[in-house]
Amino acid sequence: MRIFNRPADLSAYLESVSGKNTIGFVPTMGALHYGHLSLLSTSMKANDITVISIFVNPTQFNNPEDLKNYPRTLERDIEKIQALSSEIIVFAPTADDMYKGNEISETFDFDGLENQMEGKFRHGHFDGVATIVKRLFEVVKPTNAYFGEKDFQQLQIVRRLVKKYNLPVRVIGCPIFREDNGLAMSSRNERLSPDERKEASIIYKTLTTAKARFGKQSVRQVAEFVEKAFGSNPKFRLEYFQIADESTLEPAIRKSKNKRYRAFIAVFVNKIRLIDTIALN
Ligand code: PAJ
Repeated sequence: MRIFNRPADLSAYLESVSGKNTIGFVPTMGALHYGHLSLLSTSMKANDITVISIFVNPTQFNNPEDLKNYPRTLERDIEKIQALSSEIIVFAPTADDMYKGNEISETFDFDGLENQMEGKFRHGHFDGVATIVKRLFEVVKPTNAYFGEKDFQQLQIVRRLVKKYNLPVRVIGCPIFREDNGLAMSSRNERLSPDERKEASIIYKTLTTAKARFGKQSVRQVAEFVEKAFGSNPKFRLEYFQIADESTLEPAIRKSKNKRYRAFIAVFVNKIRLIDTIALN
């Protein structure tokens, strides 16, 4: 199995083998779960070469505690990748490799996509994400790049990044993988106690009920239902619930027939922040 740390080494290797081969790329921050592995499987089916990056990107963390506590499990991650296929190429750089001692984000304008939801509550987050994704694309030069719908706002922002900078890569959105109880898989779930993990099924349950209600009720009524569901449960703190237009991410006020809507949610369980999303129509 090939593991690279230095960007220049990976670029040189990929240039030597790519030729007419397509390169599929899955950027991650590690602590791999089936959601990540599903992106790898999708990439392997469609590309000659698949590369995964594992890098906990400091510039996208607005909360230093969250960065400090983010799970780092490189050895276990490599075992999981190996079990899937020893052909997958791993890129695990250090912060110095990616930032050359200057851990600062570039500033981006994504036409307002970056100011909604996660952007409101995590200042600078998407500048950090876009900075690293753009740099990773420059190193890997992928044909196709795979992102989960779990982070739907991130997916839309990466699409806009590619469009704005005319980057030669196709961005592919992939469905959310969930635990048996519906909880969206996430590296942060590792920090929940077994009880919290069970009870966190309320997030997806509430989203599916919200979806059912969305057919019959107004946006306001659906939001009130969700706020009530979390208001009566002291173990959870709802940060936001937002129904938004899927393409602009602008909050929906009234339903309009030919638009696609999606519900987005962020919830704290203790100090662990979880997000989820569901398509509504
Ligand atoms: P990370 O949270 O590790 O996620 C890596 C990729 O896996 C993202 O595209 C994410 O949407 C996807 N993913 C996470 N959970 C998933 C699930 N349950 N089902 C399907 N896909 C899932 O997202 C990041 O890292 C970073 O922001 C990154 C893009 C790597 C930039 O640092």
